[in-house]
Amino acid sequence: MSSENIKLDLNFVRSQFPAFSNHLCKNWSFFENAGGSYVPQTVIDRLTNFMTSTKVQPYARYPMSKIAGKLMDRAIVLFAKMINAKNNEIIIGGSTTINLYVLSNALKKNIYPGDEVIVTNQDHEANISPWRRLEEIGAVILEWKLNKRNGELEIKDLKKLLSNKTKIVAVTHCSNIVGSVNDLKKISKLAHEKKAIVIGDGVSYAPHGFPNMKELDVDFYTFSFYKTYGPHIALLYGKEKLLKNLPNQNHEFLKGNFPYTINPGGPNHEELVSLIGIYEYFNNLYNHHFNKKNISLRKKIEKINDLISNHEEILGNHLLDYLSKRSDINLIGKRKIEKKNRAPTISFTFKNITSKKISEILVKNKIATRNDNFYAWRCLEAHSINVNDGVIRISMVHYNSLKDVNTLISVLEKTKNL
Ligand SMILES: Cc1ncc(COP(=O)(O)O)c(C=O)c1O
Repeated sequence: MSSENIKLDLNFVRSQFPAFSNHLCKNWSFFENAGGSYVPQTVIDRLTNFMTSTKVQPYARYPMSKIAGKLMDRAIVLFAKMINAKNNEIIIGGSTTINLYVLSNALKKNIYPGDEVIVTNQDHEANISPWRRLEEIGAVILEWKLNKRNGELEIKDLKKLLSNKTKIVAVTHCSNIVGSVNDLKKISKLAHEKKAIVIGDGVSYAPHGFPNMKELDVDFYTFSFYKTYGPHIALLYGKEKLLKNLPNQNHEFLKGNFPYTINPGGPNHEELVSLIGIYEYFNNLYNHHFNKKNISLRKKIEKINDLISNHEEILGNHLLDYLSKRSDINLIGKRKIEKKNRAPTISFTFKNITSKKISEILVKNKIATRNDNFYAWRCLEAHSINVNDGVIRISMVHYNSLKDVNTLISVLEKTKNL
């Protein structure tokens, strides 16, 4: 059977996540995935096992410590394969915000007064503030503004900003509000023509399919594991040739010891090891749906990415269809998902009712979501939305069901009488 004909087995998927049978969670339709996702049993098991038997300082000669170190290394090797990177191009830090903050400190040394740095107003603040701060050392900050009509970042506008003075382009792979997927491959090509580097924020993209670093050709890329079915840590990818030359941000004696040079304090050991559980979940998902066993881990990930994108597209389009027909709702972003050009992260406001009020109604009806600016307040301001009231954001991943969406729609129907 070709992969196009294979449908995601949602019962299998949901059976891997204990939350769906947990008394506190099971009666809820969970739509806050862009905030943080549930974790599969494999992640919980890895974390528990590590804490039970190997929770000691790793890399000593005694067995508990040896095993701890081996598991930590294995997690890195697996994730490097999953995103098509080298082992020494992976840094595991506390969060995307921390990773980008440390990276900006390291990159400071290469920035001179008059150099230009391009940031967007579509991004989460984590990929804006650290770069805007480079103004303090004389960088000129240019803003790639989203098109107010449709919320999109348009390549033609980036072209106008790029010049031989551009040193950094910081841009999100997928907006956590608009949901649009930006063409990072094209952005990288354009930036590289000017010898600038690209920092891609993949936090809102990676939950919908682990990306291929070499194909995107970004210089740095980051995503957070707590939104990709894991614990509260984050991955920073950097091209080896760039990481090698970054000034040390860690203990002095570690100078030259990249990638630890931009990982002060090192990773959280038990959470790093629990990432093996994310791999195991995806591997189980692959084995459940596909017969061909003798292919690379990256190829397996690509097959799964297609499988989950097809499912997410059905869910996303069902909701987008409904919302587009409501004249009392301002829907943000594309009206239809086609060929993964949009994540099922769907934000909207009501014309005459506050987002807070709608959020209260949704929660009362066991729809787990919230109203917020989700730290993308520049994006909300560009849409003339009150950043305190924010948007209602419905964010789905592959474990959501059509039943979830229909439950949500039935609750949204009730708001017609308000
Ligand atoms: C698109 C995007 N970028 C960056 C971040 C920041 O991630 P972290 O919480 O790991 O710092 C978030 C968090 O919500 C996000 O949605």
